[in-house]
Amino acid sequence: SWEMGAFIKDTVSHIRQLVGKDSVVCGLSGGVDSSVAAVLIHRAIGRQLRCIFVDNGLVRNREPEEIKTIFRANLHMNLDFVNAQNRFLKRLKGVTDPEVKRKTIGDEFIKVFEEEAKKIRRVKYLAQGTLYPDVIESVSATGSPSAKIKTHHNVGGLPEKMNLKLIEPLRELFKDEVRELAKQLGLPQEIIHRQPFPGPGLAIRIVGEVTPERLQVLRDADDIFVGEIRKAGLYNEVWQSFCVLLCIKSVGVMGDERTYENVIALRCVSSSDGMTADWVKLEPALLGKVSSRIINEVKGVNRVVYDISSKPPSTIEWE
Ligand code: XMP
Repeated sequence: SWEMGAFIKDTVSHIRQLVGKDSVVCGLSGGVDSSVAAVLIHRAIGRQLRCIFVDNGLVRNREPEEIKTIFRANLHMNLDFVNAQNRFLKRLKGVTDPEVKRKTIGDEFIKVFEEEAKKIRRVKYLAQGTLYPDVIESVSATGSPSAKIKTHHNVGGLPEKMNLKLIEPLRELFKDEVRELAKQLGLPQEIIHRQPFPGPGLAIRIVGEVTPERLQVLRDADDIFVGEIRKAGLYNEVWQSFCVLLCIKSVGVMGDERTYENVIALRCVSSSDGMTADWVKLEPALLGKVSSRIINEVKGVNRVVYDISSKPPSTIEWE
C-alpha cells in the first residue's frame, strides 16, 4: 500500500541519519518481526548492520540452515552464526520450572550475544523487532506485578548492560502491518507467513526437563503436524500450530507388545495478536492422520491428544 511505501521511505532515511558511520547489531531469530526490522535497517545502512543468529539448540528441524540461506545467500546480509547448542543444553540440565527455563535461556542468550557483539567495530545501536502489542504487554507487566503472566522478553537488560541505544522501527505496528511490510520489502513467503515462535523455543514445549533426546522427539512430531497443516492449506490461516511434548508416560499396545511412552499434545489456535486465542476446530480426518503418523513414525510416542482450550483462561503455550 501507499502508506507502507511511505513508512519504509521515512524509516530508512531516519535510520540512515541517526546511525551515521556507526554500526548496528541485530539479533535475528528467523521470525517475521526481527527479520523485517533487520531488512529495513539493512536498506538504510547496508553492511553497517551486523546480524547475529544464536543457535541455542531449541529450534525446529532445518531452521538454522534456512536462516543462513535466506539472509546470507538470498538477501546478502551480514550474518554471524553462533552455534551455542551445548552451552544452552548444559545450563538447562535439571531445570523444569517454566520461568526458570525462560530466565536461564534469556541469561545465556545475553552472554552469547554480548560476546559476539563485542567483536563488532563501532557498535552503538541494538535493533529489535518490538511490535506495538509487545510494548503494551510489557507496560502492563511492569505496571502491576500481578498482571505479569509470563516474562516474554528475552533480551531485556541487554541494551543498558552493553551501553547500546535501542532501535525499534516496528514499535507502532501490529502483526498484520509487519507482514504487509515484509511483502513490500521482498522477503520470502517462508518469512512473511511464519507463525510466531517463542524466544525460549522448544524448551517451553517440553513439559519437563529439556534433553537432546526429547528435543528430537518433539522436532520430529512437530515436523509431521506442521507439514500436514501446510498440506491442508491451513498454515497461513492459523496463528500457531505446534506440538508439545508431555513428559508423562501412558500405556499403549503395538502388535503384541505393551508400550509405555510419552504423550504429544497438538496445539492449533487462531488469533490476531496472541493476547486472546481460540482453538481451531480441525477436521477429525486431519487429526487422525497426524495422530497415526506421529505414533508410527516417531519413536518414543504412543499417544496424541488435541488441546481444546482457548486463551483466556489457558495460554497458547503450555509453559
Ligand atoms: P502465551 O503462551 O502467553 O503466548 O499465550 C502468547 C504468544 O507469545 C508467545 N510466547 C513467547 N514469546 N518468549 C517469546 O518470545 C516467550 O517466553 C514466550 N512465551 C510465549 C507464544 O508463542 C504466543 O505467540
